[in-house]
Amino acid sequence: MKPALADVTRGRILFGGDYNPEQWPEETWPDDIRLMRDAGVNSVTLGVFSWSKLEPRPGERQFGWLDRLMDLLHANGIGVVLATPTASPPPWLGRLHPDTLPVDEDGRTEWWGGRQHFSHSSATYRRHAAAITEDLAARYATHPALTMWHINNEYCTYDWSEAAAARFRGWLRRKYGSLDALNTAWGTAFWSQGYGDWEEIHTPRHAHYLKNPGQVLDFKRFTSDMLLECFLAERDIVRRYTPHLPVTTNFMPLWAGQDAWRWAEEEDVVSVDLYPDPRDPFGAQHGALVQDMTRSQARGPWMLMEQAAGPVNWRGVNHPKPRGLNRLWSLQAVARGADAVCYFQWRQSRQGAEKFHSGMVGHAGEHGRTYQEIKGLGADLARIAGEVSGSHSDHDIAVLHDWHSWWAGAHEGRLSTEVDHARILTAWHRALWEAHLTTDFAHPEHDLTRYRLVVVPQLYALTDTAIDNLLAYVRQGGTLVSGFLTGVADEDDRVRPGGMDARLRELFGIRTLHEWWPLEAGESVECEGFRGTLWSEEIDKSDDALTVAAYKGGELDGLPAVLRTGRAWYLSTLPEPADLRELLERIGAEAGVRPVLDGLPAQVEAVRRGDVLFVLNHGREPVTVKVPGTHRDLLTGTTVTDDLTLGRYGAAVLKP
Ligand code: GLA
Repeated sequence: MKPALADVTRGRILFGGDYNPEQWPEETWPDDIRLMRDAGVNSVTLGVFSWSKLEPRPGERQFGWLDRLMDLLHANGIGVVLATPTASPPPWLGRLHPDTLPVDEDGRTEWWGGRQHFSHSSATYRRHAAAITEDLAARYATHPALTMWHINNEYCTYDWSEAAAARFRGWLRRKYGSLDALNTAWGTAFWSQGYGDWEEIHTPRHAHYLKNPGQVLDFKRFTSDMLLECFLAERDIVRRYTPHLPVTTNFMPLWAGQDAWRWAEEEDVVSVDLYPDPRDPFGAQHGALVQDMTRSQARGPWMLMEQAAGPVNWRGVNHPKPRGLNRLWSLQAVARGADAVCYFQWRQSRQGAEKFHSGMVGHAGEHGRTYQEIKGLGADLARIAGEVSGSHSDHDIAVLHDWHSWWAGAHEGRLSTEVDHARILTAWHRALWEAHLTTDFAHPEHDLTRYRLVVVPQLYALTDTAIDNLLAYVRQGGTLVSGFLTGVADEDDRVRPGGMDARLRELFGIRTLHEWWPLEAGESVECEGFRGTLWSEEIDKSDDALTVAAYKGGELDGLPAVLRTGRAWYLSTLPEPADLRELLERIGAEAGVRPVLDGLPAQVEAVRRGDVLFVLNHGREPVTVKVPGTHRDLLTGTTVTDDLTLGRYGAAVLKP
């Protein structure tokens, strides 16, 4: 049996965060422990950025401070998620081995002095990372505080160096076998780009004009794969020492650089860092999207590895969380499957680049509002843990997402830079969220048969396998709704004949796709019953297709904006938010999907996890919500019958 998060939680919800005590005099540690215990902290992540502390000079090891910390935490019942420190190599590594430093697109070296300055392709970096990982694993394998491994941190470094170019060539040789195959896949006949020797191939560095799309696409795949190789190498080292302990690495939400579907398969625990902007009116929806995606990657409970207790310090203007919001968003994560609510970081730094980024204990100290609210949250999580930890709910809707399609569709030579995969994905998820329909995410090649409704916001490039999967899904009775620019290209980013895959055109009832008509930012186009944005299409529908809504006026007057053939729906534009929501409600109702609760006000989110119902008020005004039946609110211990009143940012966790 693979080790899992449940082995660590054992019926609890993990609560804690990154703990970087090496930034503080050792006298602070007992105080940290006292405050952690008071707040119900039961898990901390140590060592994320400790490489230069552990190995101040090449080959030297200084584990004494970490030994003392591990002992101290264990003595106080706090488990340790131990990180390999390989995201931020010490200065000596870069100085002695400049080949470990990454190079940007313009050929400039990224020096030490920040973080994540490692070349994933450098053999020297990999060797040193493996050595420190090995020694860390050997030293702490049997330490009773150790509960889980956290490899590196937010893998995100691209590299255009010579070392990367050499590995890129190897990766391409393995993928294509011959230069002929590569030249065909990349379409190098265009602009005299044919390669006659493998050594001619480099990373797609700064070029005079538009770069070859195939080369750029493969470079993104290669980058994800190289970072994954780094992860796997360290994972396999720690696994040798502690096969019984789970291993994770923390994803950034909806981050373009990593094929997280692929990565998640290699993790025992899927974890993510999530920092919605407290001022963003759609912050909660952004949170929900990332949580739904992470749960779907984990196929079960997952770990919120990092969030902020207050402001971050990397936006232009960084706002604190108003009273109650940290609790609300934390409960939202649990509602959507998290079994760990953790932060960056425990104690706010007084020095360094993130000294204005909040901590669980802020500069205001233990009497500050932030820590006081953290304490309250720790108690809340302990109250609900017994009923939710370990449980998992599948939902009736799947939204499809694929990194390769995102990468291919993002080429600089596309018809509209306004069309952005993440933005479109967000718009469709928002419509479902506002309709109170809870959704999973899935990869287009996953088994979709258990879903009543499959939603494709946009999958520009699709493999034949994925297309067959979608067709089979509809054939066996599923309802499919797709947005524009789907099925345009194959996996080499070669446009499919007719501008869209013929099988998909037939499925939706598109006889001829004459032209794409992108819209300017802020421009909209009138359609029957709604306004479309971003995009429109000149489509000639087939005889058996039904125009659900036509364009009104302009060039496309009378042509289908929304088209359906049986249970397959196609939207050639992006309706404005309320219109997209209404359309999805209608399609969903036909497909038999129902909102979690009927008659919910817009600012209230309701989510089921197992047999527990979370009701969350994202508004600043109190609301009363119909919750038919009698329930026990696990947060307050009170009985709720039929009507639930929630104050500003209020939450209830209802058990029948
Ligand atoms: C990321 C990193 C942390 C920290 C936070 C700040 O999530 O993993 O080390 O920099 O951002 O928001």
